Amino acid sequence: MCGIIGITSNKPVSSSILHSLKKLEYRGYDSAGIATIDNGNINEVKSLGRVEVLEKNISQINLEGYIGIGHVRWATHGMPSTINAHPHSTENISVVHNGIIENSINLKNLLIKKGHKFKSETDTEVIVHLLSEYMKSNELNETIIKTLNDLEGSFALGIIFKDIPNIIVGARRGSPLAVGYGPNENYLGSDSYALKSMTNKITYLNDGEFCVIKKEEIDFFDHLGKKINKKVLQLSSNELNYEKGEYKHYMAKEIDEQPSTIKNCINEYVDKINNEINLLNFPWNKEQIKSVKLIGCGTAFHSCLMGKYWFEELTNLDVDVDIASEFRYRKNKFKEDCLYIFVSQSGETADTYAALNLCKKNKVKTCSIINVVESSIARDSDFVLPIHCGPEIGVASTKAFLGQMLVIYLLCLKISILMKDIKREDYDKKIRNLGLLSDLVKKTILDENQIQSISNTFAEAKGSMFLGRGFSYPIALEGALKLKELAYIHAEGYPAGEMKHGPLALIEDGMPVVVIAPKDDYYKKTISNMQEVIARGAKVLLLTNKDVNQIVSENIWQIIKIETTNDDLYPFLTTIPLQKLAYFTALKKGHDIDKPRNLAKSVTVE
Ligand code: G6P
Repeated sequence: MCGIIGITSNKPVSSSILHSLKKLEYRGYDSAGIATIDNGNINEVKSLGRVEVLEKNISQINLEGYIGIGHVRWATHGMPSTINAHPHSTENISVVHNGIIENSINLKNLLIKKGHKFKSETDTEVIVHLLSEYMKSNELNETIIKTLNDLEGSFALGIIFKDIPNIIVGARRGSPLAVGYGPNENYLGSDSYALKSMTNKITYLNDGEFCVIKKEEIDFFDHLGKKINKKVLQLSSNELNYEKGEYKHYMAKEIDEQPSTIKNCINEYVDKINNEINLLNFPWNKEQIKSVKLIGCGTAFHSCLMGKYWFEELTNLDVDVDIASEFRYRKNKFKEDCLYIFVSQSGETADTYAALNLCKKNKVKTCSIINVVESSIARDSDFVLPIHCGPEIGVASTKAFLGQMLVIYLLCLKISILMKDIKREDYDKKIRNLGLLSDLVKKTILDENQIQSISNTFAEAKGSMFLGRGFSYPIALEGALKLKELAYIHAEGYPAGEMKHGPLALIEDGMPVVVIAPKDDYYKKTISNMQEVIARGAKVLLLTNKDVNQIVSENIWQIIKIETTNDDLYPFLTTIPLQKLAYFTALKKGHDIDKPRNLAKSVTVE
C-alpha cells in the first residue's frame, strides 16, 4: 500500500505536497516522489528512503509548479529504488498509484508490442502508458474510462497531464481516495488525514468513480462517465491537528493516551445515570441474532479473538473469529441470523474490506468496529461502532487495540443483557467496574522502570515466547506481535497449555519467556505451565496482579504486578506492560519506532 496526494492551486504546491506526504508516510516509507507541471513540462523528483530525503533533493533544485502529485511507496512489484518510486511518467502524463494491477504483465506485453518503452519493474507503469496510448485518439473522459476498464486489481490514482495543465484526475477501485476543498485550491489524497492541515471539507470517491479536479471546481463521474453529485463532509475539529508534541514517538504518546481514550469511549457508550450501555440505533433485535463472527487482521484480529472469549463467557451465542485474508477466500456458509463484526483501526484494510463486501453480497448483517469513521469499511457496513480513539499514527497499534477490545466488550455486554444471558445485577456491576478502568490503565502505564531494565535482556535475545490461557491468550499473541513488529525479535504467542505439544522444544537456557497470569480462573493452570518452561531454563517474566502474595516458584526471573480488577478487564491491563516492553526493546536496538521496517499502518493491498 502507498499514499498519494495531489494539489492544484494558485500558488506553488511542492512544499504542501511534501507536508502531506509526511502525513501519509504511515502508509509506506521506502521511497517517495513528486511530479509538478511547470512551464509546459512535467518535472519529476524521486528518492529512495523517507520523505526527508526527497525534501532535501527538492530543496536543491527548487521544484516549481502550481499543480502536482506526490507519492510514498510500500513496495509490492519491484524492490524499493528511485526508478520504481512513483510518480511514473511518460513525456505527457504522470501517475501515482496505490494498489495492485493484477494483469500488469499482459498489459505490459501488449504495450511493448505497440512500441512503449518501460523503465521500472512496477505494475503501475502500465497505467501511464495505457493512458498515453488511449489519449492519442480519445477525449479525456474516454481515455480514463478505457484505461480503467483495462485494469484488473485495485487502485487509487492521481494523474496529471502536460497538455491539460490545470487538472488532476483521481480514480478509485478498491483503494481509498478522498477529495478536499480549499480556498482557490483543491486536493486529492489517500485519506482525510493527509488533507487535514489544508481543509476539513472532504468527499470520498466510491468504487468505480473518478473525478476531475481544478483549483476552482471538482467534477465527479461514475464508471460510465456520467456526471454525478457528491456530498461534502465536514471533518470534526478535534481530529484536525494531531502532533507528537513533547513525545519522541507517536507510539509513546499513544500508549500514554490510553486512559483518556478509554474514558472517552466509555463516555460515548455508557449512560452513567441509568447504568446502561447505549448502542444508539442498533438495528437488530434479539431474535435476529443467534451467532456472531468477528473478523479482522493483525492487532485487530487479536481483539476479535478477545471478543470470542468474552462472548462465550457472557452470552449463549455461538461465536467464531476469522482472519480476514482467510475468510475472504474460503467457502463460507453465510448465516442470516449471524452478526458479522468487522474490526479495523483504519477501516481501509483491503482484506477486511473484501471480507465485508463478501458479506454484503451474501446479504448478511454487518457491523464494523473502527477508528476512522469516514473510512470505506465504516461507510459500507450496516451499523458502525466507532472506538473514539482519535488518530493513531504509530504503525504498531496500541490505543486502537484497547479501544477495539473495549467496544467489543461493550457490545458483548449489551447483547448479553438483551438476550437475558446475564443477570441485571451482574450487568450493573460490570458497568460500574468499567468506570474504574481508565484509572487502572493509568496506574499501569506509570509503572515503567522495571520494564525498561527488562528490555535490555529482550534486546539481546534471539527469540522469545509469550504464554497465556483464557483471557490472557489473545494478549500473549498481541504481546508477541508487538515485539516482532518493533524489535524485530522472533516472538511466539502461545496458549500456555499447548507448549508441551511442540514449542517446549524451543526453550533454551536463558530464553526470555513472558507468562501472563493474573489471578483469574486460569491462574493455577498457567502457573503450572510456567514451571515447565522454568524447568527447561527459560528466564520467565511473570505478569500477574498485585493481590497475588504468594508466588509459587522461586525461580522466576522477573515479576510485574498490575492492578487488581475483575477477570473480564485484565486484558486491558496486561496489554500495557507488553506494549512498553516492545517499545523499550526497540528503542534499545535503535529502531524506527513509529515506522518499523517492511510494514505500513494501513494495508490497502492484499
Ligand atoms: C497493519 C498494521 C497493524 C494492524 C493491521 C490491521 O498490519 O501494521 O498494526 O493491526 O494492519 O489494520 P486495521 O487498520 O484493519 O486495524
